[in-house]
Amino acid sequence: MGKDVIIACDFAGAAETFRFLDRFTGRKPFVKIGMELFYAEGPEIVRELKRRGHRIFLDLKLHDIPNTVKKTMAVLSSLDVDIVNLHAGGTAPMMRAALEGLTRPDGTRPLLIAVTMLTSTDQQTMENDLLIREPIADVVLHYAKNAKAAGLDGVVCSPLEAAKVHEACGADFLTVTPGVRFADGDRGDQKRVMTPAEADRIGSDYIVVGRPITAAEDPVKAYERCMIEFGIRNSEFGIRNCLNKLYP
Ligand code: C5P
Repeated sequence: MGKDVIIACDFAGAAETFRFLDRFTGRKPFVKIGMELFYAEGPEIVRELKRRGHRIFLDLKLHDIPNTVKKTMAVLSSLDVDIVNLHAGGTAPMMRAALEGLTRPDGTRPLLIAVTMLTSTDQQTMENDLLIREPIADVVLHYAKNAKAAGLDGVVCSPLEAAKVHEACGADFLTVTPGVRFADGDRGDQKRVMTPAEADRIGSDYIVVGRPITAAEDPVKAYERCMIEFGIRNSEFGIRNCLNKLYP
């Protein structure tokens, strides 16, 4: 798997999701399914999206005792998803158990990435509620290193943290980064944002983009713009655009 744009399909149900994805005629974007859609529709939504040819990041952020996480990961692995995740705060034994559960009899498995510290948690909340006194940037890096040591493939992090995570954990340790906005777009509730081009420069492997695509007037065009700005050059739209410029 290489670098890509993952569309966050934060829809309430299957019908809305399929209506949205049907607009991408001939294209099969990488999609993220979160808790809302998964709990509303169950595993069938994943099976159907796989049947339709999409790659899937199943964003369920598991966090429980190792045995429970191991067994749950085995179920998710049987759904043939491409990326799953958990909370690094579940500690190394839970992360190692998750990997065991994910690994299929033939040795293959989905990629497993860890949420470090949620971007909704700031320094003050972390200190007051979790009694963690270190600077949050150090905590994020510490969790990323733990995930790497446990054998995981990468982390979900803010694009602002991606370069440091690569520095500490290696270039091949994946950084999957939400909080992406077009330079001329609405930030919504996201506070620390980056454009797709900036995320590309800083070395994000996958960008997770929701509303800038799902709420756009023309979602397909917004997706293609994202692909181009993120440096994915083989986009059909990019080629068409170049041809239009050469032969107007
Ligand atoms: O619409 P928007 O582009 O803000 O969507 C970003 C997606 O990434 C949402 O599904 C959100 O839940 C998810 N996410 C995030 N920040 C994190 C972890 C996940 O925005 N730290």
